[in-house]
Amino acid sequence: MEQLLQQIEACKNEVAAFKAHTPDDVEAFRIKYLGTKGLVKSIMGEMKNVPNEQKKAFGQILNQFKAFVEAAFAQLQANNEANSQNETANFDWSLPGDTTLVGTRHPLSIVRNQIVSIFKKLGFAVAEGPEIEDDWHNFGAMNLPEDHPARDMQDTFYINQNPAWLLRTHTSSVQARVMENQKPPIRVICPGRVYRNETISARAHCFFHQIEGLYIDENVSFADLKQTLYFFVQEMFGKDVKVRFRPSYFPFTEPSAEMDISCLICGGDGCNVCKHTGWVEILGSGMVHPKVLENFGIDSTKYTGFAFGMGVERICQLKYRVNDLRLYSQNDVRFLKQFTGAL
Ligand code: DAH
Repeated sequence: MEQLLQQIEACKNEVAAFKAHTPDDVEAFRIKYLGTKGLVKSIMGEMKNVPNEQKKAFGQILNQFKAFVEAAFAQLQANNEANSQNETANFDWSLPGDTTLVGTRHPLSIVRNQIVSIFKKLGFAVAEGPEIEDDWHNFGAMNLPEDHPARDMQDTFYINQNPAWLLRTHTSSVQARVMENQKPPIRVICPGRVYRNETISARAHCFFHQIEGLYIDENVSFADLKQTLYFFVQEMFGKDVKVRFRPSYFPFTEPSAEMDISCLICGGDGCNVCKHTGWVEILGSGMVHPKVLENFGIDSTKYTGFAFGMGVERICQLKYRVNDLRLYSQNDVRFLKQFTGAL
């Protein structure tokens, strides 16, 4: 009996000293003292061991004890509620919210996607090829035999000399991959990364991106080439941009032409992007050389085609006025987060 009274006294002291700081603390109190396996229940259970003549007096003590614990619990609950109401009342609802950082697409991806979607409107499909190429697909098939001086224009990274494995120097290699696997009519664009052994500067990099185009069918003419590229420029840069074609030379096209557009930076007045000419070159193009077609068993008396290749960095430079090629690969968030027109 004595022991039970001591237990009740200890329990009361504990209850009186209990501090609840959070709703979880209040719940912990309930479980510990008032739960189905709580202390109050277990002490009440001792009633059966109390001798009959003491039951009445003891019952009163137990009831008081239970009421004491319940009152303490109600107090804890009330305090907690008041606290949380205070917190809400004191909270400054005019504070700005926490900012969530949203990623942006890389400018080169934005521009590549734009270019791809323009050509998709004209019925071009997307084709891709490997970045590690053999000599045949990068050079030989494109009418650049081993001793051809034009190979010097493209400072090649070789992975292996014999047999030659290299990092592709242009996406024209994907033309070869496509003609190997498809019969005309062929209408593809090939976006991808290319590599050249150049000293890195604001104007040159050892890797960059190109988009190749290839269109082969019966009766494809230079007029189709011009009209396709003209459509592209207007979609990409707007109706006011002027274009001009200059005769050029590429081993895989005959005739060949480079296309310039009027400088978007200075509007044609002359600046250092257009080297004070008012024009900037954006792509190389031409009619697919008959030898290239024959390399893939395509009858060059029946089929003709045009091809073009453009640099994504250059288009991006004109569109977003990026004046240093190194910015594209430095991963500087201050640069990257300026491009929010994700596509
Ligand atoms: N492959 C050339 C380069 O990297 C670009 C090019 C020019 C691609 C003319 C073509 C083309 O398809 O017809 O400089």
